[in-house]
Amino acid sequence: MRARPQVCEALLFALALQTGVCYGIKWLALSKTPAALALNQTQHCKQLEGLVSAQVQLCRSNLELMHTIVHAAREVMKACRRAFADMRWNCSSIELAPNYLLDLERGTRESAFVYALSAATISHAIARACTSGDLPGCSCGPVPGEPPGPGNRWGGCADNLSYGLLMGAKFSDAPMKVKKTGSQANKLMRLHNSEVGRQALRASLEVKCKCHGVSGSCSIRTCWKGLPELRDVAADLKTRYLSATKVVHRPMGTRKHLVPKDLDIRPVKDSELVYLQSSPDFCMKNEKVGSHGTQDRQCNKTSNGSDSCDLMCCGRGYNPYTDRVVERCHCKYHWCCYVTCRRCERTVERYVCK
Ligand SMILES: *[C@@H]1O[C@H](CO)[C@@H](O)[C@H](O)[C@H]1NC(C)=O
Ligand SMILES: *[C@@H]1O[C@H](CO)[C@@H](O)[C@H](O)[C@H]1NC(C)=O
Ligand SMILES: *[C@@H]1O[C@H](CO)[C@@H](O)[C@H](O)[C@H]1NC(C)=O
Ligand SMILES: *[C@@H]1O[C@H](CO)[C@@H](O)[C@H](O)[C@H]1NC(C)=O
Ligand SMILES: *[C@@H]1O[C@H](CO)[C@@H](O)[C@H](O)[C@H]1NC(C)=O
Repeated sequence: MRARPQVCEALLFALALQTGVCYGIKWLALSKTPAALALNQTQHCKQLEGLVSAQVQLCRSNLELMHTIVHAAREVMKACRRAFADMRWNCSSIELAPNYLLDLERGTRESAFVYALSAATISHAIARACTSGDLPGCSCGPVPGEPPGPGNRWGGCADNLSYGLLMGAKFSDAPMKVKKTGSQANKLMRLHNSEVGRQALRASLEVKCKCHGVSGSCSIRTCWKGLPELRDVAADLKTRYLSATKVVHRPMGTRKHLVPKDLDIRPVKDSELVYLQSSPDFCMKNEKVGSHGTQDRQCNKTSNGSDSCDLMCCGRGYNPYTDRVVERCHCKYHWCCYVTCRRCERTVERYVCK
């Protein structure tokens, strides 16, 4: 009996891959939108890759948002690769959008991170675009209700996070709201993790201040609520990735929910990333499970983290090679006001996994 759900799952996968019904994060393919596509006419929406019909509809009715959403898709890829540069799974497969491999098609921990990051990024991008005045439909965020602290006053332009969250969720959750496609458990997982991403973004909102006053005395500070850089949000989500919870789809009360697989009976928390399928260790190449392996990956001989040669190479050992780096050196300051430098070359020893 135990094997059956897995067979079903596998069949669902095969079906999903063939018919492309698991749309999920296929909208990240927007990152490849050619710059020549002006995106200023509603008929351009049909030419965009990776969108479900509800997203095409949103594109038509919110055309002014699309440049921001295309930008967000590019940012997701950058932030994911940066956050996982020191890991065996380094997010390089996200570039395959919209035709992902199993590492991102299945309900893995890695896909949990990417869904959360995608949801956070699109809302981050829209909120930031509001602030910079790029969107005709929205303005600065609200003035906070609480007092700004002694010597401070609220001012500036706050990031309009509520608008970012609203429009971001509409767009990025649309594929999971399509009826009768994919498995229910996968949809629940994707929606949950997307919400975790938005929750992390909400939690990241911070008070930022700027000094004023006579010759920089900072007697008055203007403050507003702003979002941190996306890389900080990605780092927060990576921490949640590392402590993600494995869940199963199980009846609880009258409906089926995602509940932690381990014995402690509790609902999943709004702050935790969840996954349904364990990932391989990503040591060896195995396309069947979406693993690229770590052969030829660079490792760090002096680190004791996940990028250490020991962990990265899974104990297989590593090969040294020398690399030449060119740097600016012997820099001199000339009065007034420029700097001259020389170019120096030095060799460094680097290591790649066997
Ligand atoms: C859309 O943008 C293109 C290129 O920038 C421009 O030539 C065209 O006139 C624009 N169309 C509309 C309807 O604004
Ligand atoms: C942005 O924040 C303001 C509050 O200052 C609010 O009135 C407005 O509805 C928000 N959304 C948009 C789209 O401007
Ligand atoms: C990420 O991993 C892939 C597969 O192992 C590898 O080909 C690629 O070079 C890696 N990228 C970086 C930036 O290390
Ligand atoms: C290797 O790791 C050490 C310790 O974490 C760090 O100081 C160093 O910059 C790393 N080297 C490279 C090439 O990343
Ligand atoms: C390496 O490990 C030691 C102790 O095990 C720890 O104190 C230190 O912070 C670690 N360094 C890095 C770069 O992770």
